[in-house]
Amino acid sequence: MLPLREFVPTVRQFIVGHRGSSGTAPENTLASVREALDAGADMVELDVQLTSDQEIVVFHDAVLGRTTGGKGKVAGTTLQSMQSLDAGAWFSEKYTGETVPSLRQAIALIKGKAYLNIEIKPPQPGEDYHIRLDKILSCIFEEKMEEFTLFGSFHHGALAELKRNYPLLHTAAINLPNDTRLPSEIAAEIGCEGFICSMRELTHKRSKDAIAHGIYLGVYTVNMREDLDFALGRKAKAIATNFPARIREEILARG
Ligand code: G3P
Ligand code: MG
Repeated sequence: MLPLREFVPTVRQFIVGHRGSSGTAPENTLASVREALDAGADMVELDVQLTSDQEIVVFHDAVLGRTTGGKGKVAGTTLQSMQSLDAGAWFSEKYTGETVPSLRQAIALIKGKAYLNIEIKPPQPGEDYHIRLDKILSCIFEEKMEEFTLFGSFHHGALAELKRNYPLLHTAAINLPNDTRLPSEIAAEIGCEGFICSMRELTHKRSKDAIAHGIYLGVYTVNMREDLDFALGRKAKAIATNFPARIREEILARG
């Protein structure tokens, strides 16, 4: 597998499984990762959180309720307690028994098969996010995933720090709601390679600016054929979708 920095310029677009294949399996679980890989996703996007015993888990929310039925915050729960929760039943009975993976467990599936996109969530009130960042980085370096990982975040300060400390890491700013700055203005500040925005935010102005400045564009979430037409029309390269199998078929059909 090519390092991400070599892969990106060689392709017209690539498919990012958003929270795995979260349209067909419970988000951020190993089942969702497996389905994204089976669908031929080039990259798998995962959200990560820090547990009370300082382990990195693959989990979107800061609180347990929505996808596990558990109570309280991830930050107040140990890895073991998190992994005793069912993270699949809420999605469908078929996925009962799916658990919350550690980042290492998810990497074990992804490594050598696809690129990883880790989303670094903004800090919770009172949180020193450096602890979380250090844990994520240790995991990535120990697993030798540094050349195959894209770090994305709405928290541009965290990405700027990453770049300052490890210039070779690959980063992408996620556009903040109501941020009117252009991709090139953000990249000039934080040195990111990519710029990710929602479909609604993917304007011609942002697209032209990014392309003119050699910044690649990512967009979420491209779930329907019309979404894909729109995203490709605006030159998005990283196509994040909850349905990687469907979007892959659509892309192949376009030749
Ligand atoms: O990477 C873009 C996207 O994942 C950001 O939103 O809430 O799905 O993590 P969210
Ligand atoms: Mg995310």
